[in-house]
Amino acid sequence: MVENMDALISLCKRRGFVFPGSEIYGGLANAWDYGPLGVELENNIKQLWWKRFVQGRDDVVGVDSALIMNPKVWEASGHIATFNDPLVEDKKTHERFRLDHLLEEHGVAVSGMTFEQMSSKVQELGLKSPAGNELTEPKQFNMMFRTHLGPVEDRDNVVYLRPETAQGQFVDFKIIQEQMRLRLPFGIAQIGKAFRNEITPGNFIFRTREFEQMEIEYFVHPNDWQKWFDFWLDLQKQWCKDVGLPESATKFVEIAESDRAHYSKRSVDTEFVFPFGQKELYGLAYRTDHDLSSHAKLSGKDMSYRDPITNEVFVPHCIEPTWGVNRTVLAVLCSAYEEVDARSGDDGAVHEKEVVLRLPKSLAPIKVAVLPLSKKEPLATKAREIATSLKKNWMCQYDETGSIGKRYRRQDEVGTPYCLTVDFDSLEDQKVTVRDRDTMGQERIGIADLTPYFAGLLGY
Ligand code: GAP
Repeated sequence: MVENMDALISLCKRRGFVFPGSEIYGGLANAWDYGPLGVELENNIKQLWWKRFVQGRDDVVGVDSALIMNPKVWEASGHIATFNDPLVEDKKTHERFRLDHLLEEHGVAVSGMTFEQMSSKVQELGLKSPAGNELTEPKQFNMMFRTHLGPVEDRDNVVYLRPETAQGQFVDFKIIQEQMRLRLPFGIAQIGKAFRNEITPGNFIFRTREFEQMEIEYFVHPNDWQKWFDFWLDLQKQWCKDVGLPESATKFVEIAESDRAHYSKRSVDTEFVFPFGQKELYGLAYRTDHDLSSHAKLSGKDMSYRDPITNEVFVPHCIEPTWGVNRTVLAVLCSAYEEVDARSGDDGAVHEKEVVLRLPKSLAPIKVAVLPLSKKEPLATKAREIATSLKKNWMCQYDETGSIGKRYRRQDEVGTPYCLTVDFDSLEDQKVTVRDRDTMGQERIGIADLTPYFAGLLGY
């Protein structure tokens, strides 16, 4: 587990996981780009999720809805009226801060406090900005990004970048239920970008203004909501284990009514102990019929469901498990990061500590590194042929530069579970050496057997 965020951020930048976006122009307020290894890690997380919760289940289907939706969607969902954060501004520097964060930094337990209570606390404490200046009166700030559709920028053309993917599932509920002839309980899943104009983004990729969500809206009979809430909580707990998050760092927290989102009657957050504190990783909410009923009311369209057996007609209730992709990347990296005593040894340099990313194999960006012992022919060609063949099934990297120790070290640092070495004996016995990242064990495997061998270890 990483203790120091700077060490992780530096590794991420150096090795092509995540680095500041638009950096040649000095970056842009907490925008991050995912490099060649970061995008593999992200994709592996998304694929694992989709396989598990959509492909692997009979009761969940997928959707990919438009990112810019009719603004009435946000009126019905309540986001225009209530998706606010409390904000104060430094009167001199005009820097803006989230009031709840500022109060927390001054030791105030804001959990359960209303906006009015937080505002009067500012007066009571005579709170100043971090630079020591006067603050403006607190005000509510809507976090949705606004833009205009088409060339005319007037009030009639205002649209919003979606702050959650979930509304796509709600507005498409009826058409998907009919198209796929779905019976309750069933879920609609979506992976996609969401945008929030966060007042204080930060902590690397933890809180950003552009991020990605994996959300399931699971529709149930109102009488059954508790059963399905517990069911999805168990699946979220299992997911955390399977992506390698230590149980000691994963907490499941019941959210008090005053702290719940406007649509939720019950929420349990999955929180993770990051180096900067215990923070929300995932959410689980009982959204009742809030969204379907609000859309039915504003659109005038029927959102009810007829039970084919009992003929009961009702608006389904919704259990929503939600996962942030970027926070998963961060929690997975924090959990996998380990500094070990030097173990590669033979690269000529003296290292006291080496980094090993103990990523679950299914998430590792590179599954197999193919390393010829020497650049000389015919070793290099042989190794390239092996890499080309393995690439049909797995992400492989061919690397011939530097000593073998240095190359092992490079792969350990990015979490590659297997290194495959082609040596001079390989030309004679048609075998290669496979080294395991975690056990450091080495095995001689026939070149002709490599595909079934790795299929056994990695799956397809
Ligand atoms: N549809 C419900 C919903 O959006 P949320 O708790 O506001 O609920 C769900 O967001 C998840 O999205 C969070 O648990 C977190 O993983 C991720 N998330 C939310 N805001 C984020 C931000 N500013 N940056 C990165 N991830 C964020």
